[in-house]
Amino acid sequence: MAIPIIRTEQLTKSYGPFTALNGIDIDVYSGEIHALLGDNGAGKSTLIKLLSGVHSPTSGKIFVSGVETEFRSPVDASKAGVGTVFQDLALNPLMSVTRNFFMGRERHRGPGPFGILDFAGMDEITHAEMRKIGINISDPRQAVGTMSGGQRQTLAIARAIYFGARVLILDEPTSALGQKQQMEVLRTMMSVRSRGDIAIIFITHNETHSKLVADRYTFLALGEVIGRGTREELKGEDIRHLMAGGVEIGDLSRELAQF
Ligand SMILES: Nc1ncnc2c1ncn2[C@@H]1O[C@H](COP(=O)(O)OP(=O)(O)O)[C@@H](O)[C@H]1O
Ligand SMILES: [Mg+2]
Repeated sequence: MAIPIIRTEQLTKSYGPFTALNGIDIDVYSGEIHALLGDNGAGKSTLIKLLSGVHSPTSGKIFVSGVETEFRSPVDASKAGVGTVFQDLALNPLMSVTRNFFMGRERHRGPGPFGILDFAGMDEITHAEMRKIGINISDPRQAVGTMSGGQRQTLAIARAIYFGARVLILDEPTSALGQKQQMEVLRTMMSVRSRGDIAIIFITHNETHSKLVADRYTFLALGEVIGRGTREELKGEDIRHLMAGGVEIGDLSRELAQF
């Protein structure tokens, strides 16, 4: 089997005396959408923070394409090809699509050590990169504030990929959106998947969304992996059961029926 682009071995993170993640083993492959599911407090955000260099693990290892790697900062993770789209998207709604796309990484042209900003070139790249993943923005100089929530997600994803992400971590990308825009984001994810050279880690609460796109699943509860499997291996009720942290939904519905 292929070498996973990201592998963790017994990854553990404690905040003081509290262990938020305990011995996590996870494999993520290029060209796949790997859904990371779990209830609030399961440790999903903590795991992402370790994979994106925001925090260091208390113990355990991270391997990138088979090589043990230590991320001391988000810059390290980014250089290793891990691009994370956090829930706030890190976009400025008052600035243009292009300015947001290049934020802090502007292209220059002309002589001298800095030259002048190459706006035409940056507009062209922004337009082309957005188009590649399925969104045709008429004017890359329009303010991000005029875009739909789904388009903003897509902008953040296109930007991460253009700047070298080979592992794309999406933290609840569909959760704050209306129905139609959720589908737009899922479509963007499938379009990225179809390139075949990028792994997507899809953090979600939404069982339906995970079933629409995921190739592989890992379920977390209280800081531990409580289940995993491929799309073929997991049936609908397994997913629902594991999503609930292994609690029997049947018991809960019987209990609720008493009221
Ligand atoms: N900085 C922190 N300090 C102390 N406890 C934290 C910190 N961040 C998260 N936790 C705790 O770790 C557990 C896992 O949190 P988190 O990773 O945010 O879960 P999820 O994203 O799955 O909801 C929770 O019990 C949370 O309260
Ligand atoms: Mg979280």
